[in-house]
Amino acid sequence: MRRVAVTDGMADEAIKRLEQANCEVVRQFIELQDLLDGALADFDAVIVRSATKITKEILEVSVPGLKVVARAGVGVDNIDLDAASKLGIPVVNAPRASTQSVVELTVAHLLGSLRYIPTADRTLRSGAWAKKELTGTELYGKRLGLIGFGRIAQGVARVAQAFGMEIHSYDPYLPSNVAKKFDVSMHKTVDSLFKRCTHISIHCNLTDETHHLVDSERISMMPGKDPNHLPCGNHIVNCARGGIIDETAALEALDNGQLSSLALDVFENEPVDPSSPLLQHPHFHGTPHIGAATIEAQRRVGLDIADAVLVALSGSLPETTVNRSSLS
Ligand code: MLT
Repeated sequence: MRRVAVTDGMADEAIKRLEQANCEVVRQFIELQDLLDGALADFDAVIVRSATKITKEILEVSVPGLKVVARAGVGVDNIDLDAASKLGIPVVNAPRASTQSVVELTVAHLLGSLRYIPTADRTLRSGAWAKKELTGTELYGKRLGLIGFGRIAQGVARVAQAFGMEIHSYDPYLPSNVAKKFDVSMHKTVDSLFKRCTHISIHCNLTDETHHLVDSERISMMPGKDPNHLPCGNHIVNCARGGIIDETAALEALDNGQLSSLALDVFENEPVDPSSPLLQHPHFHGTPHIGAATIEAQRRVGLDIADAVLVALSGSLPETTVNRSSLS
């Protein structure tokens, strides 16, 4: 019988799938010290979300028992891929399962910003009827700039087009045939995207190249006017990864009015510090990294990951192995 550790939770249906395939599943958060003491060495697979960090040191004390590391989600930034590759351990993820949920949250944040929904709710609860102060703007006719044009950005583009937005994107890694399938203006530089768009949504990974890609200089390039030269403000949404926006620069831009709204589901440091001045700003609203937190996404994530783990334990490389090219 194969042993699988599920450290950060997973849908019941996915656990059942593993058990039906004759795996013993242990659902339990494992403390860092126990991981460093080799708690995973008795397991064939470990399935984590974002709370458990799988470092080089943990991997080194977990071999040869541990055969696969699975991330029940998309981002694998909590797993040391280089170390896993050197030790010959495949790392698998579930890249497609949460796409629709993140698309919907992104659009919710865009709409929430433009129509002041969080502020409206807060003022209503406080007993105020702030109807006159809450005049928003429409998405219709505005330019949306998508940084990255992968699956989630493409989904956002489809919805935004249905709202009548003009779609722009910057993605240096996009195969040219993909952009052609969409009515999207591709930009050669990030600066050109910022100069053109009043609404920006981030859909790239956090890498050295994208760290603080959204900074004061770029925010200052945003035009604040729609294609008819009418003022509509500048708005930024990030439901991808924290650290891509320089939060200090964004706060300054909110303060000086260059940025009209900022909506974040992800933060440079999570959980975000409750005393962060960003959280006090009236034109900021946020959610605690809940992009993939829907019943549907979590079910799909769990089932996809259970299937990938079973493939890996049968000795094959799952299709969603992220370090495939580095495994010898
Ligand atoms: C992901 O990478 O799958 C998402 O950011 C969701 C998460 O980490 O919880």
